[in-house]
Amino acid sequence: MSEAEIFPVAEAWSGSAHMDAAGYEAAAREAEADPDAYWARIGRRLSWIKPFAQGKDVSFAADDFRIRWYADGILNASVNCLDRHLPAMHDSIALIFEGDEPDQQATFTYGQLHEQVCRMANVLKARGVGKGDRVTIYLTMIPSLAVAMLACARIGAIHSVVFGGFSPDSLAGRIRDCDSRIVITADEGMRGGRIVPLKGNVDEALRECPAVANVLVVRRTGAPVAMLAGRDHWIDDLIARAEPGCDPEPMNAEDPLFILYTSGSTGKPKGMVHTTGGYLAWASYTHELVFDYRPGEIYWCTADIGWVTGHTYGIYGPLANGATTLMFEGVPNHPTVSRFWDVVDKHKVATFYTAPTAIRALMREGEAPVTRTSRKSLRLLATAGEPINPEAWLWYHHVVGAGRCPVIDTWWQTETGGVMMSPLPGATALKPGSCTRPLPGIKPVLVDADGSLLEGAASGNLCLADSWPSQARTIYGDHERFLQTYFSTYPGKYFTSDGCRRDEDGYYWITGRVDDVINVSGHRLGTAEIESALVADPNVAEAAVVGCQHDIKGQGIYCYVSLKSGVAPTDAMKVALRNLVRQEIGPFAAPDFIQFAPALPKTRSGKIMRRILRKIAENDLSNLGDISTLAEPGVVEDLVRNRVQ
Ligand code: WTA
Repeated sequence: MSEAEIFPVAEAWSGSAHMDAAGYEAAAREAEADPDAYWARIGRRLSWIKPFAQGKDVSFAADDFRIRWYADGILNASVNCLDRHLPAMHDSIALIFEGDEPDQQATFTYGQLHEQVCRMANVLKARGVGKGDRVTIYLTMIPSLAVAMLACARIGAIHSVVFGGFSPDSLAGRIRDCDSRIVITADEGMRGGRIVPLKGNVDEALRECPAVANVLVVRRTGAPVAMLAGRDHWIDDLIARAEPGCDPEPMNAEDPLFILYTSGSTGKPKGMVHTTGGYLAWASYTHELVFDYRPGEIYWCTADIGWVTGHTYGIYGPLANGATTLMFEGVPNHPTVSRFWDVVDKHKVATFYTAPTAIRALMREGEAPVTRTSRKSLRLLATAGEPINPEAWLWYHHVVGAGRCPVIDTWWQTETGGVMMSPLPGATALKPGSCTRPLPGIKPVLVDADGSLLEGAASGNLCLADSWPSQARTIYGDHERFLQTYFSTYPGKYFTSDGCRRDEDGYYWITGRVDDVINVSGHRLGTAEIESALVADPNVAEAAVVGCQHDIKGQGIYCYVSLKSGVAPTDAMKVALRNLVRQEIGPFAAPDFIQFAPALPKTRSGKIMRRILRKIAENDLSNLGDISTLAEPGVVEDLVRNRVQ
C-alpha cells in the first residue's frame, strides 16, 4: 500500500474535539517553552488532599537519577476515580459489565461502585492489609476486579494484577517476587464458554508461596472449589458484612499505586512500579485527549485488565474522568463472530479500543458478521499493543467504522503507563500503520546503534529524551535492573527497545521490538521465558525462541530445540513441549512452531546467533547475512532444510 494515503481530519472533528491542530501545536509549544505550566495543568486535573507545589523533578543522569512528579502533593486514587464524582454522578453508570454469555450483564453506578469499593477496602483492612502492602489479584474480567483494585488504592495497598491466563507457576513467581501475603481470586473464570480454574490455579501456586495467609474468593460460577480453613474466605460474605464507608488513605503522589509484571529480555518478569499522582494524572489526561472523551458517552476498552491497557484505559483513565467504562468478560468470537459489534449496539458504545490481533482475526471472517450490525453509536476506533498493518487498519476504518470513525493507533508500553504517541482525532491527519506524532510534552528521539541522534526522516532505535508523569519509577525490588534496562544503553535517555522510522512529515512508524521480546496476539512475551520453560524438559539440551510473522497473532512463537544425545525427535515430543510451555507460562504462550535442531548456530564465543534464527523462522533466506563468524556454518544449512511451517 502506498504511504501516500492520508486521511485528513474530518471537519466535524476539527471543530468539536478537545484539541484541534492549532491546539495541538500550541500545547506542544507550551510544553517546550513553559513546561512547568503545562505539567502543572495536567496535575491539577486531579483532586488533591494537599495540592502539589512541585511539578517535574527528574534527572536521567546516572549519578543523579530521579523521577519524581508532583512529589509534595497528597491524594488518593480511589477518591479521584469515585468520591469526587459522587455529588453530580451518584446515579450515573460507572461500569457496565457484559458477561461471557450475551444474557449476562450488570451495571454499577458511581454510588454503587463507591460503596462496593469501601466495603472491600474494609475487608482488606480487617485481614491486616495496610498502606504499602502488596495484594495479588488473579481474576478474569469481572467487576470484582475493578472493585479490588480500587479498594487497594483506597487503603494505600499496592495491587499486582496477574492476568488470569497465567499458569500457577507464573502466578507463584509474581506472588513471591513482590512478597504479597494476600491473593484475591474467584472460584472459576469464564471466557468464551470455557472455564478458567482460577482457584485451582491459586491453590497450586500457593504450594510455593507459604507466606500467603489469606485468599479471598469471589463466587463467579458457583462451582465447588476446595477452601482451606483459616486461609480461604468467600469474599461475598465478608463484603456483605463490612461497613459501607471507608476513609481514604492520604497518599503521597510518589507512593506506588500498583505493580504490573511485564516481560523483558531475561527469563524473569519485571514488576513495573507505577505511582499514584503522575500515573493517574496522565491516565486521565490522555483518556480525554486521545479518545476525545465526552461526558455521557459509553467507552469500551477490550483489553484484559491483566495488561497495562486494561489498567490505564479500562479502569483508571475513564473512572478518573467520570466516564462509563464497559468491561467485557468474553472473547470476540463467542457465541458468534459478531459479538463485539452486538455489544457495541446493545450498549451504544461510542469509543471502541482494541488490539490489532482482534481486528485481523475478525477480518478473516469477512464483512457480513460486521455489517449485519448497526454500529451507528460508534464515534471513534482505536488500537494498541502492536503494530497495525495498513490492511487491517483500512478494514477497521471502512468496514467496522463504515468510513465514519477515525482510527487512533496508540503507541505506548507498560513502562510508559499511558499513551505516548497517537493521533488526536481533531488534530492529526491519519496514515494507516503509523502512530503519527507524540502527545504534547512527549519527546521521542531516534538514535543509531552508537547513540547518535538521527534527525529528519530516519530509522533507528526509539528513545524518549525526557520524562512524563506516568513513567514507571522502578522495577519492584530491583532498581539496578531498572537503570540497566532502560537508561544504560543510551545514557541520559529512556530506551524503549522498539525500532522505529520517522517519515518526512515527522510521523512515527513503530517497526517492532529490537530486543528479545515478542508480541503475540498483543501479549508481550520474553523469548527467554519460553526458552526456560522448554529447557525444563529433561530431554532438551538447548532451546532458542524467536518471533515469526503470523497473519493473525502479529507474531508467532518459533522454537528451535536441540535434544540431548540419544533422544529421538518425535511428534509426541513436540506435543509434550507445547504442553510444557502452556503449563509453565500459560496457554497464550504455547509455541506455534517447534523445529528440532541437532545444533544451534553459534559464534565462536558460544553466543546463539538469533539474527539468523529469526531470518530462518521468517523464511527470509535470501540474505542470511554474514555467517562466517559461526563456529559451524553447516548448522545453518541443516536448519534451513528442516524449517517447519
Ligand atoms: C508494542 C502495551 C506498534 C511495542 C500498551 C511496545 C506497539 C510493546 C503499539 C509494549 C503500537 C504497543 N504500534 N507497536 N500502537 N503499542 N506496541 O508493555 O513493541 O504490553 O514496546 O504495552 O508493544 O507492550 P506492552
